[in-house]
Amino acid sequence: MKTILVTGGTGYIGSHTTVELLKQGYRVLIIDNLVNSNKETLKGIEKITGLRPEFFEFDLCDQEKVNSFFENEKLDAVIHFAAYKAVGESVDKPLEYYRNNLVPLLNILEAMKKHDVGNLVFSSSCTVYGEPDTLPVTEDFPIKKANSPYGNTKQISEEIIEDTTRACKNIKAIALRYFNPIGAHESALIGEMPIGPPNCLIPYVTQTAIGVRECLSVYGDDYNTPDGTCIRDYLHVVDLAEAHIKAVERMIDNKSAKNFEYFNLGTGKGVSVKEVIDTFEKVTGEKLNYKIVDRREGDIEKVYADPSLAEKELGWKTKRSLDDMLKSAWEWERKYREKHEES
Ligand SMILES: NC(=O)c1ccc[n+]([C@@H]2O[C@H](COP(=O)([O-])OP(=O)(O)OC[C@H]3O[C@@H](n4cnc5c(N)ncnc54)[C@H](O)[C@@H]3O)[C@@H](O)[C@H]2O)c1
Repeated sequence: MKTILVTGGTGYIGSHTTVELLKQGYRVLIIDNLVNSNKETLKGIEKITGLRPEFFEFDLCDQEKVNSFFENEKLDAVIHFAAYKAVGESVDKPLEYYRNNLVPLLNILEAMKKHDVGNLVFSSSCTVYGEPDTLPVTEDFPIKKANSPYGNTKQISEEIIEDTTRACKNIKAIALRYFNPIGAHESALIGEMPIGPPNCLIPYVTQTAIGVRECLSVYGDDYNTPDGTCIRDYLHVVDLAEAHIKAVERMIDNKSAKNFEYFNLGTGKGVSVKEVIDTFEKVTGEKLNYKIVDRREGDIEKVYADPSLAEKELGWKTKRSLDDMLKSAWEWERKYREKHEES
């Protein structure tokens, strides 16, 4: 049985990936310090799969702890999700972001080198492309100056990984550049539940619909898009989770074309904020209280992926629709609130 370390495994994407790994017969070890997640997620994972991943609660900035973890476990691959992820917050707290998003990566790569662990999947982001000149975005687009410290941590991380794989021939890595993951597992037992006010559109939508937030702000309807609102490439988090298995398999089966590879993960279809709201209202029957406000600084007008390289090389493409994404996000929000009202 192959053993995979999932850092940030109680978080949003990490928990969905853990479920898919367990379903495929991998042994999963999670490291998370719960800075943006909850231990309860482990129960959800266990209910879905019948298996409980082994959980290690500590901060990956602690090099000694990372090292002794690697000393005690024999790993076949690492999937590194753990990071801070709020673009706006990173502008106000750059040092926290640089420390938390870079130090764990250095600790992990050093431990991989020292303990001869060969395969790393890294959570990157479409933010590395900034505001693209043309669409859809392919992997050979130029990496422009990042427009936030968060985006910069992803660019720097990719460079650190590339340099490391060049120098240490026994380390292979795949960076997955996610577009906009949304939705939840169909069981509604795990999903996205940010601590504090959400930074992303969908939790804001579901929290407004359920009454936790009063009103959803749509930042600008005067962009150069068909309905004036920003366009993104939303993909289902379970589709995204499945891509991680493909990436792990590619490296374990020695199918990588190069020691460091990167792939866009998206549907290839741009969807506007207004379309998200309309679709949400259609699939849930809920009326959403929203208002148009001024544009938000730093927002990109439109971005969507060309995901054909991931299809060709990883044999991966998205299967789930926008309806599925929004329905599952809503089911998760409802079930979560019901459960927490009871307790
Ligand atoms: N969600 C998105 O829209 C999106 C898009 C592109 C890229 N990403 C990247 O994907 C990864 C996962 O994102 P997510 O949405 O699941 O975020 P999340 O916040 O839900 O999960 C991250 C997890 O990492 C943990 N963590 C953070 N710092 C840690 C540390 N120092 N030590 C141990 N644990 C730590 C948190 O407690 C959390 O459980 C991140 O690297 C993020 O930048 C996310």
